[in-house]
Amino acid sequence: MTGDTIDTVRVDLGGRSYDILIGSGLIADAANHVAPMFKRPVTAVVTDDTVAPLHLQPLLDSLEVAGISVTPIILPAGEGTKSFAYLDSLLNQLFDAQIERGDHIIALGGGVIGDLTGFAASIFRRGIDFIQIPTTLLAQVDSSVGGKTAINVPYGKNLVGAFNQPRLVLADLSALDTLPERQRLAGYAEVVKYGLINDSDFFGWLQENGPRLLSGDQQALQYAVGVSCRSKAAIVSADERESGQRALLNLGHTFGHALEAETGYSDRLLHGEGVAMGMAMAFELSARLGMCAPAEADIILQHLQAVGLPTRPTQVAGPSMTAADLLAHMAQDKKVSEGKVTFVLAEGIGKACLKRDVADTDVLAVLEAALANSGS
Ligand code: NAD
Ligand code: GLY
Repeated sequence: MTGDTIDTVRVDLGGRSYDILIGSGLIADAANHVAPMFKRPVTAVVTDDTVAPLHLQPLLDSLEVAGISVTPIILPAGEGTKSFAYLDSLLNQLFDAQIERGDHIIALGGGVIGDLTGFAASIFRRGIDFIQIPTTLLAQVDSSVGGKTAINVPYGKNLVGAFNQPRLVLADLSALDTLPERQRLAGYAEVVKYGLINDSDFFGWLQENGPRLLSGDQQALQYAVGVSCRSKAAIVSADERESGQRALLNLGHTFGHALEAETGYSDRLLHGEGVAMGMAMAFELSARLGMCAPAEADIILQHLQAVGLPTRPTQVAGPSMTAADLLAHMAQDKKVSEGKVTFVLAEGIGKACLKRDVADTDVLAVLEAALANSGS
């Protein structure tokens, strides 16, 4: 049964507008929200083998009680599933399930399942509709919203994909109860990002309420997921295809993606952990360039450390990294244009901005300082 309150956030994109519903119990009540959208009572639910035993059955029950025939498609959990091999496997399983052009498919899981399913939906029979049911904090506040879908290739992360908006997002806060603490923290980094981009009041709220949110308090979660989704919805509505301000959503990601590439997109470093380190370094670079006060960079570092997020590459287990290698990875960043990286930097907390023409010497200096620091 759905919890007491459902917060609805609209992503305004003309004919492709959709709602994000945020509340507890939405998975078990999913049919009430999705059935009215279906032309015929048939769907496929794509999930992974960690989420399936935890959250698939209530979704199947809800759909089956509503008379909807469902094919579950269960893929391995982990970043490796965002690949051509599993895209191929997923498309074949959708054909086997006789999913038609007019049907919707449902992604139940974290950003990996959401990104893969959204991309598969964009090309299956030249494009079918899909619904996101995000089950990680990261997916609820970021990846399920805004229509970026992709797989990874050896050249880098998310380099093959499409903009493809979902028709509906059901962010069930109760699904987060089973999320391991490390994953919850990684998602929290993306929540902090919204405060740092353009909402210093929200960052202040997080300084006070972050620990309550991370302990699973549903009211705090609902507030923070709602603020995050509203922030992302406003940016995406204004700049769906990232010709300008949407790039601000990549705060921390240029450094973070370099760290993820260097660690081979493995469990050594989760995406959100890379973002936490990257946001700390983006503010340090901003301070070094005289754009923001060093004290503001310190405030962010302290908050990330206080909640338990890693902030330094030296906290990553395994072989150590070099500043030169990390800089080389940045050259493959999607934000490279005419050979130059566009950095998301900041003039203060809540004042993110885009900056080109940052000298390699300044980037290297920030990387070297971070690599020399234990982060404790
Ligand atoms: P994920 O999908 O790998 O999920 C993390 C782990 O948590 C997995 O092992 C998963 O099985 C498990 N899990 C999921 N829900 C659970 C639950 N409720 N209880 C217990 N375990 C659960 O990773 P993620 O952090 O959700 O997403 C990361 C991916 O999202 C990356 O590939 C990243 O590139 C992508 N991403 C995309 C966008 C976008 O705009 N499309 C934005 C940010 C990140
Ligand atoms: N996660 C960055 C974006 O959606 O644009």
